[in-house]
Amino acid sequence: MDILENTMINGRHFYFKLLTIKDKNTLLNGFKKLSSLSKLYRFHRPKGTLTEKETNYFLNIDNYNHLAIGAVEKKDDKEYGIGLIRYIREHNNFKNAEVGLTIIDDYQNRGFGTQLYKKLLVYAKKNGIKTLTNHVLNYNIFMIKLLEKFNSVSQKQHDGTTKIIVTI
Ligand SMILES: CC(C)(COP(=O)(O)OP(=O)(O)OC[C@H]1O[C@@H](n2cnc3c(N)ncnc32)[C@H](O)[C@@H]1OP(=O)(O)O)[C@@H](O)C(=O)NCCC(=O)NCCS
Repeated sequence: MDILENTMINGRHFYFKLLTIKDKNTLLNGFKKLSSLSKLYRFHRPKGTLTEKETNYFLNIDNYNHLAIGAVEKKDDKEYGIGLIRYIREHNNFKNAEVGLTIIDDYQNRGFGTQLYKKLLVYAKKNGIKTLTNHVLNYNIFMIKLLEKFNSVSQKQHDGTTKIIVTI
């Protein structure tokens, strides 16, 4: 297992790791803990469960064109997924990748999203990516605030979203 960093917060053990196909259960259990609003923010439409096809796609990771980092809490020797970030490289523009980021509701606003983003930037840079594209609903102020911390430019779209491009 590729653990990137261990951290103790108020006596609780968290770590970040590169996700693999073996993290399927952690992914699915974490997804169940997302509120409808968080799922709407992430998928831009109401979302019930993840289909088998989507789950396989999300875990079809090669750590180059598709890379995902999970934030995990370790309790009683078990792993609980609390959030994840991924980039998927664009087919037609090798130097750009699209980002997806989700922190489960109980752990939001504690800095995990920002930390995951910073870690993703390091890997994206190493893998030759120059820009990261984020599609954000206009009223998702938390994601907009998070992305303002990076070297980003926003372009309002006609569909209620903002395309925010982070230059690495
Ligand atoms: C958007 C999201 C990824 C942010 O992750 P997070 O771990 O909660 O964010 P952080 O704690 O790193 O904080 C990022 C900024 O948002 C603000 N923020 C986050 N949650 C907040 C809340 N509930 N209330 C007020 N501010 C909040 C933080 O204050 C911070 O800004 P600051 O540093 O200027 O104070 C997370 O809320 C989430 O997963 N939402 C649902 C899915 C989603 O929106 N994904 C992005 C799709 S484009």
